Amino acid sequence: MPTYILGIESSCDDTSASVLCDGKVLSNLTANQEIHKSFGGVVPELASRAHQQNIIPVVNQAIINANIDKNQLNAIAYTRGPGLLGSLLVGSSFAKSLSMGLNVPLIEVNHMQAHLLAHFIEDCGDEKPTFPFIGVTISGGHTQIVLVKNYFEMEIIGETLDDAIGETFDKCGKMLGLPYPAGPHIDKHSKNGDSKKYKFTKPKVGGLNYSFSGLKTGFMRYIQKEKMNNESFVSNELENLCASLQNTIVEILFDKIVLAIKQTGISRVVFGGGVSCNSGIIQKFKHNENIENYKSYFPKFEYTTDNAAMIAMVGFLKFNNDDFSTLEKSAQARFKL
Ligand code: KG4
Ligand code: ZN
Repeated sequence: MPTYILGIESSCDDTSASVLCDGKVLSNLTANQEIHKSFGGVVPELASRAHQQNIIPVVNQAIINANIDKNQLNAIAYTRGPGLLGSLLVGSSFAKSLSMGLNVPLIEVNHMQAHLLAHFIEDCGDEKPTFPFIGVTISGGHTQIVLVKNYFEMEIIGETLDDAIGETFDKCGKMLGLPYPAGPHIDKHSKNGDSKKYKFTKPKVGGLNYSFSGLKTGFMRYIQKEKMNNESFVSNELENLCASLQNTIVEILFDKIVLAIKQTGISRVVFGGGVSCNSGIIQKFKHNENIENYKSYFPKFEYTTDNAAMIAMVGFLKFNNDDFSTLEKSAQARFKL
């Protein structure tokens, strides 16, 4: 008998629903929230309201697109955390009600675990990583190096002490006048720029931890200073500034991963999260595979950013493990791996 899992993701500003059949994606639908663009970042109160408007049509359409009847679903998997509490509450309440209504088990999913386990979705990539591996979760809210022992045993061995990597792209991009989220725009402008033209400060943080706030402040000061001499500095130099900034971020990320490989003796590096589609990161890690002796794994584009297919995938793995949740468990803004 095939196993049908519905996944629901609502941790930030994307309302997403997906149906998987035995790890294969039948549907994966996301309603993005355009409303935040004019504010230059996600406004939590507006995000939860938009989730409330979107959740029923998105889930309904995901079931229609999967070409199944809702009574065929074997379980409902949802993001319990981490994320914005108001947003999580909408998805978790809906998932609980649906599991009660259909009388099927409820499965709670950790969003950060899901970013890494997205690689096990059937069509995510050509080759699946084997355990153990070094997981690298890079998104708007997280920058973590994770020792992944198996599907469910994960240990954070390094993380950012201040800003997340995606946040750094977004905030520096805002200083350049780029729309939110600025990460993809910086990536695009970098392609025609000179990545060595400007040098920005790299942090001196011990061990496997990251820090990006110094880079952000240094970047801001440099832009402000240059703009005083020449008002058109940013528009004249946009591509070079983007390329140099991206190159600095990529080098900061890369150096710690090489250290993690050396410290753990593990040579598989598995990426997840919205920033893992960055072309500079992919190029750098692919180019150095033979030099530093590791193999890197990047998810297919649609599984890098927040999506419900990764939630349904973890749901499927937990279903096979009889690992079910209860209605009493509440959404968690901070939710440990
Ligand atoms: O995982 P995600 O969709 O949401 C969070 O959980 O945060 O990640 C969103 C982040 C944003 O900061 C966005 O700017 C960044 O991913 N991002 C990128 C690129 N595409 C998305 N950053 C750099 N280069 C990209 N191509
Ligand atoms: Zn995410």
